[in-house]
Parts: sequence; structure tokens; C-alpha cells
Amino acid sequence: MEGFTVKTREYFPSLNRVNSSNQQIIYLDGPGGTQVPIQVIEAISQYYLRSNANTHGEFITSQETDLVMDNLRTKVSVMLGAESPNSISIGQNMTTLNYSLARALSRKFNEGDEVIVTELDHEANRGPWMILKEVGVKIIEVNLMQNGTLDYSDFKSKINDQTVMVCMGMSSNAFGTFNGFKKVKEYIKDRKCLFLLDAVHYAPHFLIDVKELDCDFMLCSAYKFYGPHISFLYSRPGILNDLSPDRLVVQEQKAPYLIETGTLNHASCSGVSAAIDFISSLGQGSTYREKLESAYSQISDHEFKLAKYLYESLEGYNKTTVIGPDFSSRERTPTVSFVHSEYSPKEVCAKLAKQNICAWNGHFYALKAIQKLGLDSRGGVIRLGISLYNTKKEIDRVIEVKQSI
Ligand SMILES: Cc1ncc(COP(=O)(O)O)c(C=O)c1O
Repeated sequence: MEGFTVKTREYFPSLNRVNSSNQQIIYLDGPGGTQVPIQVIEAISQYYLRSNANTHGEFITSQETDLVMDNLRTKVSVMLGAESPNSISIGQNMTTLNYSLARALSRKFNEGDEVIVTELDHEANRGPWMILKEVGVKIIEVNLMQNGTLDYSDFKSKINDQTVMVCMGMSSNAFGTFNGFKKVKEYIKDRKCLFLLDAVHYAPHFLIDVKELDCDFMLCSAYKFYGPHISFLYSRPGILNDLSPDRLVVQEQKAPYLIETGTLNHASCSGVSAAIDFISSLGQGSTYREKLESAYSQISDHEFKLAKYLYESLEGYNKTTVIGPDFSSRERTPTVSFVHSEYSPKEVCAKLAKQNICAWNGHFYALKAIQKLGLDSRGGVIRLGISLYNTKKEIDRVIEVKQSI
């Protein structure tokens, strides 16, 4: 599998950065945002060098921009297994798209309706739903257990005839927990209840199939899967047209555009297409989707192996406590969080940073989960997130530095 990283690393110029002691940089903050391959950088530059314009004009650069946007919706729809490019709306980031969706749904739901969120989720999939309280909707929270997984008996017991929507993450950006979203879909399958999945932390590691998941909405962010800082909302065909998001009278009033406000970041859109092309180029197959499937299977294998090795090494060290589920099952993202018995997460990350190792500390906006596990007062956790370009050699160096702390 080291051959896999040899093949991929050469495309990432930022991996070559060294510090003043000539130590090569090690990026372990993929859950905060991955590095980008040269293909993405070139696509963004090419857009500004040749095609920069607004959409829907009669002139060449505008028509090229229209193509950039259409091409992107097509690629994202194939990547997510969506019915059509018209299921894909583009936004500044996941948080903004989710707020717009919540605001639109606040005009549809009624007083006394119940929306379920979880204690494990990132605030971006909790805060937007809280605005529904303004119209009398009850927000019901599913318990997080001390082992970093959701309490599914609590989940099931909270679904009832008033439940109009379930909003949950596919995996936790704080602990790497892989959530039981298929199980939850079973709980609600015979009900008239919308199902929204936050795939932001999941999409870099596993291929998604929205049709198989049978969800109504899904959100993901390209800057977590080797692209620039923009995000997507998938909506099941027909649903978005029924909603009334905040929008100008002059903009397109139908899906997928009606939830997109103002001029989008066209250069970044061009970069995201290049990021998806990059992922697919790592796989084999006769169709674009098959190549993505094959690439994701190699990415998952590589990342899981490294993360399991890292997890087991950290577990065997008496000054660290690893937080979250173990690696006994493949249902785990390659994100390993821990605390140190003597130093705060900020101090540990500062010591790692001195050795040119990039790792983040804190709650990563999964504030409720960190509070629930009693970790807030000690500064949260240290998070080491593996991405496709990380190597065993890098993990060995991280373990060596870490064990000296
Ligand atoms: C699981 C999860 N959901 C949502 C978000 C918010 O995404 P964005 O920064 O695109 O708003 C993040 C960002 O870290 C995340 O990790």
C-alpha cells in the first residue's frame, strides 16, 4: 500500500514544505481541510487565466463559465450517486447551505412538529435546526454515550408521529465514529419524515450513494476531499421545488438554483471538478463512477491501516487516553483523538508543531460532544486525521515525537 502514497504524494506540492530544521511537514489535519493536488491548483489558475466571467452571457468566457458550472454539477452528482445534476446545489460552505435549508423548512413545518438532532454532531448540523424553535418546532436531541457512539435505543425511542425530520452526521469529525445512519433510516422508513445526512467528515473516506441511503438531503464540503472551499447540498428530486428559501425575485426559482444566492465561486467550482477527477484517476474501471468506487476502496484501505496502527500505538502508551471507538471494525473513519495525562491538547499540539507536525486541538465545533464527554474543561482533545497522502513513515515519526512528550 506504500505504493499508493508514492503514486499520490507527488501531486501535492505542499507536502514538500520543510521547517528551519529541514523537517518535512506532516499534515494530520485532514478533518479540518485536506491539502490540494496540483491539478486543482492548475484548474483554478486556468479559470482566472482564460475564462473568468459571470454566467449566462453571450460571450466566450461566460459560456465557458456556464460549462464549468454544468460540468461540476454533473461530476458531483455522479460522485454522490444522485439522480441528476439538478439535485446538486452549490454554496459557500456547508454551514451556510444548512442555515438556508433550515430557514426554508421553518416556513413548512408547524408548531408542535419535532426535529431530531444528535449530541455527536458538528454545530453546523445542530445550530441551524435550533432556529426552528422560533416557529414552535421542538428540537429533540439524541444522547451521546461515553464511548463516543450514539445511543440507538434512545434514538429509536425519540421517533414518533410528531417527528418531521431527522438530521444526523454520517461520521464524527471529533472522534471518527461511524454512525448507524442505515439503522436510523430503518426506524423512520414507514413515516413521513425527512432524512438529512451531514457527509462532511465521511465523504473524503467513503464513496456515497444517496439513492441507496434513501436520504432527502445530504451536505458535503469539497475542501475536505482535496478541493477548494465550497460545499454542496444534495436534495431528492422534487423536494427543493416545494420549499421557499430566502432568494431574490431575479434569480432562478427552481432546483437546484433556488437555494443558491448571488454569484458563486466559479474558479473554485472548476477546482472541485479537478479534485473529483483526481480521485477518480486513482481508480480503475470502465465508467467514471466505477473509477471512483475503485479509488475510494484503495483510499479507505490505506487510511484505515494507518489509522489502526496509530490508534494501537497511542493506546499502548501510558500517558495517553484515546477517545472514541476502536478499530475492531471497518466502520471507522481514520481520525484518532486522544488526551494526554500531563499536557493540555493545546500544549501537545504546540510540541508537535515544533517538529513540523500539523494537528489540531479543541472541540472542532463538535462542542456538545466534547462537553458531554467531560473534555471541555481540559481543552478538548488532540485530533490526528489521516488522509490519502499520509505514509507509514510519517506515522512512525508522529508516534516517536508523541512518545517523547
Ligand atoms: C462533520 C462536519 N460537519 C459540518 C462542518 C461544517 O462545514 P463547513 O465548514 O463547510 O461549513 C464540518 C467542518 O469541519 C464538519 O467536520
